[in-house]
Amino acid sequence: MDKLTEEERRSLIDLAREASRRAYAPYSKYQVGAVLRTKSGRIFTGCNIENAAYPTGTCAERVAIFKAVSEGEREFDVMAVVTPNGGSPCGACRQVLAEFGLDTVVLIANGLGEFVLETTVGELLPGAFTPENMIPDRE
Ligand code: THU
Repeated sequence: MDKLTEEERRSLIDLAREASRRAYAPYSKYQVGAVLRTKSGRIFTGCNIENAAYPTGTCAERVAIFKAVSEGEREFDVMAVVTPNGGSPCGACRQVLAEFGLDTVVLIANGLGEFVLETTVGELLPGAFTPENMIPDRE
């Protein structure tokens, strides 16, 4: 994928920011929004969804990924994430992203919608354990 244009960055960050407003985060108060753009051009949003039984809560990124996969999409080109302070995706989300490709671009912004970082899943998770490790003859 080519580097994101300024316009693409802006619109992905705006959508992720909007998604973060739908976060259900009464415990941490840390509202996160995610936007996943597939190679086919579809957009899936996600927000973190916490639970009184803490470990059952889910991150915004995984909500977006699972929505996409459950709708038949497995090829992603960019994941945009908005966290209050520009914090980056957790290890579990990096792993879930890695399942679908190390080249997915990850765009991070803060709660004011300010750009923080553009990177890739491969850079965020060096030495990733991927499907190739499990199924050697899979393409
Ligand atoms: N969280 C996300 O949704 N994504 C991230 O990238 C980091 C953390 C959520 C999980 C939890 O609901 C809250 O933020 C605080 O950890």
